[in-house]
Amino acid sequence: MKHITKTYGALVANNSIDLTLQKGEILAVVGENGAGKSTLMKILYGLEAYDSGEILINGEPRKFRSPHDAIDSGIGMVQQHFMLFPPFTAAENIVYGHEPKRKGILFNRAEASDKVKELCKRYGMYIDPNVKVADCPVGLQQRIEILKVLYQGVEIIIFDEPSAVLTPQEVKELLKTIKDLKQAGKSIILITHKLSEVMAVADRVMVMRLGQLIKTMPIGETSIEEMSFLMVGHKLETRKIKKIEQGSAVLKVEHLTLAGTGERNTLDDVNLFVRRGEIVGIAGVSGNGQSELIQCLTGILKFQAGSVIINDQDVSNRSVQEIRDSGCACIPEDRYYWGNAAEATLVENAIMSHYKKSNLMRYGIFHKKNTRKFANDCMAEFDVRYSSDRQATQELSGGNVQKLIVAREISQHSPFLIAAEPTRGIDIGAIDFIHGKLLEKREKGDGILLISSELTEIFALSDRIYVMYEGKIAGEFSREEATSDKVGLVMMGGNLNG
Ligand SMILES: Nc1ncnc2c1ncn2[C@@H]1O[C@H](COP(=O)(O)OP(=O)(O)OP(=O)(O)O)[C@@H](O)[C@H]1O
Ligand SMILES: [Mg+2]
Repeated sequence: MKHITKTYGALVANNSIDLTLQKGEILAVVGENGAGKSTLMKILYGLEAYDSGEILINGEPRKFRSPHDAIDSGIGMVQQHFMLFPPFTAAENIVYGHEPKRKGILFNRAEASDKVKELCKRYGMYIDPNVKVADCPVGLQQRIEILKVLYQGVEIIIFDEPSAVLTPQEVKELLKTIKDLKQAGKSIILITHKLSEVMAVADRVMVMRLGQLIKTMPIGETSIEEMSFLMVGHKLETRKIKKIEQGSAVLKVEHLTLAGTGERNTLDDVNLFVRRGEIVGIAGVSGNGQSELIQCLTGILKFQAGSVIINDQDVSNRSVQEIRDSGCACIPEDRYYWGNAAEATLVENAIMSHYKKSNLMRYGIFHKKNTRKFANDCMAEFDVRYSSDRQATQELSGGNVQKLIVAREISQHSPFLIAAEPTRGIDIGAIDFIHGKLLEKREKGDGILLISSELTEIFALSDRIYVMYEGKIAGEFSREEATSDKVGLVMMGGNLNG
């Protein structure tokens, strides 16, 4: 790509960017939220038009008007939000658009299945062609996406933050797949915020900041420190956590039990508490009841037994609104599903969940000036990068949407906050900033329940840690006791005493 420039109104998302990709190499693209990484990749995949510049494939200038054209030129993209049809099988999804036919018109299911098996064999991946996508965990769905791209016969594969939604085990498998694809001669572009992944698989790395290309370097000649310095523009200090006096419990969960679909309860006699002035982490391999726990606490799922007390009020099985009114804010784990309305404006999203407060609404009508002021203050404080507060939220970069949700929930100054995956998809500078905000909230005497699949995040912030395994609290550690060995063992179902 030569001198690629792309503007959205006054905003320059890509400013004369050059990118080269060699055959059989893995190029990582890193940079802060809103730096222009996804935009550049959407241009390469024919999803976005560009203002000026040139794209050359094997030395030949190409113009892409749609992903169709890009695929024809051998470029595929594994989307961050999977574009699969959940009721259909893996094979049906993979061959979709180019189905093998019988008698020229009928779908040849057997051949589709054979083709998928052949692809799996060639690239060392495994999937049952007949499994329904709806029944697949996220990691498998991603594998289906990758196979779909390979089925299109492309040579260049773009991954935009593929590991953001995966468990650590799935990340390992993904990184191995990426290396295998390279071995098979494919050329890869990988966008990620996890610099350790860059060090583990990439051949070269390209750093972007504010729409500019800062530097491209071979991996052997750089380090995590240098990359983060180039991305953020300053050095990140390690944080010291202040000792503070902890108060009474702001959250008390007793004997909480949620039935499952089979024999086992999804949540089984869960007991836990969070004190005022305390951050309590919940560690666990995802799928062990953490998501359901959040949904029970916030009123989305109704549970069969036990109680939830927030801020001294019994809110067991109450409505979402009642629970919020009791003094609970929540950063949900999936920002696109639970966290925002993509087509609503930034102002609307910033006041969602607490718009009934008297300063924002009067006699059922929004107070325009106050809502805009709240939204703009909140976005300024949390460094959300946007052009206009009347913009649709879907126009923000992924990480900036997350920052907006975090800003909204922290700015409510509720005595209790649930922070689920608060830094998913966020750049290292902003992670540091949000960690600081969570600690500030703790110092004010509020209680926080932190759910994160990143153990490093749990360790960096928590005063106490619970480990969840198969719907139960399988262990509890103080900050001093917790080591990744001990916590990791309990996460896998192990027993510390045996
Ligand atoms: N459709 C759009 N309309 C207006 N502005 C847009 C649109 N799409 C992207 N932008 C802006 O372009 C800039 C670059 O966004 P982009 O999505 O490329 O960032 P990114 O580097 O991928 O960030 P992240 O790490 O958060 O995913 C952002 O400021 C974003 O708000
Ligand atoms: Mg992006």
